Amino acid sequence: MFPRVFFLAALTLNAAAAPSRRAMALRDSRAEPRGFVNTGAAAADTEITLRIQMAHTNMTGLEAVAYDIATPSSANYGKHLTVDELVEFVKPTADTSAAVLEWLSENNIESTVISPAGDTLSITIPVSQANELLDTTFSVFSDLDSGKTIIRTLEYSIPASLHGHINLVYPTLSFVRPQAIPKFTSHKSRREVKRDIEQRMIVHEGRAVPASCTETITPTCLQDIYGIPSAPGTQASNSLAVAGFSEQFANQADLKVFLTSFRPDISPSTTFTLQTLDGGSNPQNRSEAGLEANLDIQYTVGVATGVQTSFISVGRNNADGVDGFLDIINFLINETTRPLVLSTSYGFDEAELPLSDLTSLCNAYMQLGALGTSILFASGDGGVAGSQPQTECTTFRPTAPSGCPFLTSVGATQGFPETAAPFSSGGFSNVFPTPSYQSADVATFVSNLGSTNSGKFNASGRGFPDVSSQGHHFEIALDGEAHYVNGTSCATPSFASVIALINDKLLAKGSSPLGFLNPFLYSTGRSGFNDITSGNNPGCNSTGFSASTGWDPVTGLGTPNFDALLAAAGA
Ligand SMILES: *[C@@H]1O[C@H](CO)[C@@H](O)[C@H](O)[C@H]1NC(C)=O
Ligand SMILES: *[C@@H]1O[C@H](CO)[C@@H](O)[C@H](O)[C@H]1NC(C)=O
Ligand SMILES: *[C@@H]1O[C@H](CO)[C@@H](O)[C@H](O)[C@H]1NC(C)=O
Ligand SMILES: *[C@@H]1O[C@H](CO)[C@@H](O)[C@H](O)[C@H]1NC(C)=O
Ligand SMILES: *[C@@H]1O[C@H](CO)[C@@H](O)[C@H](O)[C@H]1NC(C)=O
Ligand SMILES: *[C@@H]1O[C@H](CO)[C@@H](O)[C@H](O)[C@H]1NC(C)=O
Repeated sequence: MFPRVFFLAALTLNAAAAPSRRAMALRDSRAEPRGFVNTGAAAADTEITLRIQMAHTNMTGLEAVAYDIATPSSANYGKHLTVDELVEFVKPTADTSAAVLEWLSENNIESTVISPAGDTLSITIPVSQANELLDTTFSVFSDLDSGKTIIRTLEYSIPASLHGHINLVYPTLSFVRPQAIPKFTSHKSRREVKRDIEQRMIVHEGRAVPASCTETITPTCLQDIYGIPSAPGTQASNSLAVAGFSEQFANQADLKVFLTSFRPDISPSTTFTLQTLDGGSNPQNRSEAGLEANLDIQYTVGVATGVQTSFISVGRNNADGVDGFLDIINFLINETTRPLVLSTSYGFDEAELPLSDLTSLCNAYMQLGALGTSILFASGDGGVAGSQPQTECTTFRPTAPSGCPFLTSVGATQGFPETAAPFSSGGFSNVFPTPSYQSADVATFVSNLGSTNSGKFNASGRGFPDVSSQGHHFEIALDGEAHYVNGTSCATPSFASVIALINDKLLAKGSSPLGFLNPFLYSTGRSGFNDITSGNNPGCNSTGFSASTGWDPVTGLGTPNFDALLAAAGA
């Protein structure tokens, strides 16, 4: 079924028979992007690759099924779809396919199918032809921060007759910052942990935790804090994947140093497998190790003991307009064996992407979730100001893709008793409405909030994060040295590891893995969390939101209590 390549029969139309130009109608437009400058029209002969996402057969039906199979009270709970079942919902109808291919053939354009369901076509044409095809002017935009240039437009049209057949043509209006890594701080030299601190214990949620964990988080701290087992998982079919972008490379030698220090109970040679797409790679030159990639790999391999872990390196050669975020999902959907958990510690601000791109990304997460993968994303490190801290904003800046209801957004906590980390991004999407699984929680939070922050956020949006985990002062090994990092980037692989170990127990008793988590987390899974009720997430010259009893847009439902979450999952 895939990949299908359509080489359209060479057309032998003479000029007289060429179809008259179709009536065009605006498909989408956007305001000038922040942080980019338009340096002028793109050269006519520059080749660009565009993708055409066709209308799906039954996305509404898929959405209903995706929720149904993820809802513990449903008779269909855990009945994840096969790819063939998924394709029936996602593929374009025969009419749609024919209409779109006819348009391309009229314009003498060859296309390639590039998505597992056949809904996305790729075309490579000169800018002059793209301008004509979409009745627009592609321009070269320069990113003021990095100086990197991209070819985009601020509006485009398609034939009016195709509006029902084409969801979007991209990349056209997306201005995602190429470097979308949340922020951390690091210290080069390893701090001496005082012996008295090492031996003293504190009590956290009824469990003894070494006092050293108040200064520095290591994998054993997470085990002690959340009751995460150190015994290895036993299921060969279990798996966990870490997404890597922006030429962040995960280093094997650093992992060995890390495991030797912090997991002396397991083999220091425990490692991860590599997958690549879009020209991605994972060079092992020590000096090229990435802080984010090392953090993510060390806190999955080092916490999800015995679970097969892969590092998926997405290269720069991506043409999805979202830095490979969409490509990696189509790549995973197309795999015969998919990771059961996907951890991603990258993100951007929702306002950077138009509605059509956000919707197509969110639909992709819905598809992967329906196939049985739990998708976890860092909520961001700028409090209510978005993925990065800032004070100038007058309204709160929700992050993406955390606003998508089909993934699990992870915020951060710090200290003992656990309190919200001030950088933990949270709030409400301006694009995706509150999904039913959290509508009661959001209503309670918003009603208790009264007039606080009124006018600065959209109370009808999807609230995030969903959950949280420690995210302050994690020790990692980088280029052979100890570094300390903060961020929701720390929390996400830690929480992903909890889910992977729960999947292991479920698989061991013959049950389905968890898949799309949220309907479970907000219902029966709720008893598996330590509610975090203090701290807040300042930003935009405000104190942000405050953590409070129940769900809140700083720490979500709270931090995991492994045994309770395991019991709630029925393992
Ligand atoms: C769409 O999918 C739903 C759920 O499976 C199904 O009930 C419905 O009949 C489908 N609609 C169409 C038009 O195929
Ligand atoms: C590793 O990378 C550094 C910096 O890019 C370079 O100077 C060095 O030659 C590389 N070493 C090897 C063995 O490739
Ligand atoms: C999909 O899988 C097939 C078979 O494994 C492979 O040949 C193809 O390149 C994959 N496509 C993408 C986009 O990953
Ligand atoms: C608020 O969110 C809803 C989606 O829940 C959206 O339709 C609406 O446009 C948003 N309002 C603003 C002002 O952004
Ligand atoms: C990270 O934690 C360290 C140590 O507490 C602190 O000095 C630093 O300001 C923190 N950075 C952020 C962004 O919160
Ligand atoms: C920040 O908020 C304070 C108090 O609400 C206000 O006095 C001040 O003008 C604000 N600063 C900016 C830059 O908006």
